[in-house]
Amino acid sequence: MNEKRIALVTGGNGGIGESICMALVNKGCTVIAGYYPADKENAEKWQAEMKRDGYEIILAAADVADFEQTQQMVANVEESVGPIDILVNCAGITRDASLKKMEYSAWEAVIDTNLTSAFNVTKPVMIGMMERGFGRVVNISSVNGQRGQFGQPNYSAAKAGLHGFTMATAREGARKGVTVNTVSPGYVATAMTEAMPEKVLEAIIGEVPMGRMAKPAEIAQAVAWLTDDNSAYVTGANIPVNGGLFMSF
Ligand code: CAA
Repeated sequence: MNEKRIALVTGGNGGIGESICMALVNKGCTVIAGYYPADKENAEKWQAEMKRDGYEIILAAADVADFEQTQQMVANVEESVGPIDILVNCAGITRDASLKKMEYSAWEAVIDTNLTSAFNVTKPVMIGMMERGFGRVVNISSVNGQRGQFGQPNYSAAKAGLHGFTMATAREGARKGVTVNTVSPGYVATAMTEAMPEKVLEAIIGEVPMGRMAKPAEIAQAVAWLTDDNSAYVTGANIPVNGGLFMSF
């Protein structure tokens, strides 16, 4: 039996984040969705819609690329809701361009939001988890961190870096009841892939052995399993959920 766990999902109101929040509510967790402060209006609208559908979700604002803001957000959540048992680092952005066209600002924004964020959020949360002797951390990476993608030198680097972070912190948590794992989605039907040029997306779907994109719930399924109390012996692992787009062992 799982205890009633407290879960923080960064990017909780995003395409994949929403499904992860729902899966964790369904498991009986108290769920906090982290959102980007400038997105307040949309996040509150989303929260009301979720409530209408039977999902009670607490909101917490922070730009995860900002160290100080993130420390404050984690402190506020732990004071008002309680100690965080489950952390899902799901906040992420794309700023696609080939290396020759990529501006430094696009490199920096993606590295800060997709990789440095994991340090910013995991550090305060995981210290508490290790002191209490229980924790589940899941970092949402990408198939493109494993195989590289034309037009994503920033995103592929950040997502590959995330798994290095997973493996290092998994070692630090291993004797303290804290597991740290990566989930690497393939192409998922969300606003992020909708923003891609149609022809490029079609060509990529053509390469997917299953011939389709993932549903967000199919990513959430892997997160729900990894964050279960009983998934205690899986750590430092990467779970690919990519329809066969990249196969490895
Ligand atoms: N492989 C090899 N060459 C390619 C190529 C590819 N996949 N795509 C384009 N090229 C070539 C073109 O043929 C062209 O060649 P020439 O110069 O010889 O004519 C050249 O590269 C064009 O280069 P540009 O830099 O001018 O490219 P562009 O500006 O036209 O488009 C892009 C670049 C905007 C990055 C576009 O390719 C793109 O949007 N790609 C999608 C990247 C992608 O998959 N993003 C995923 C978003 S979703 C996500 O990230 C979630 C997740 O985790 C999966």
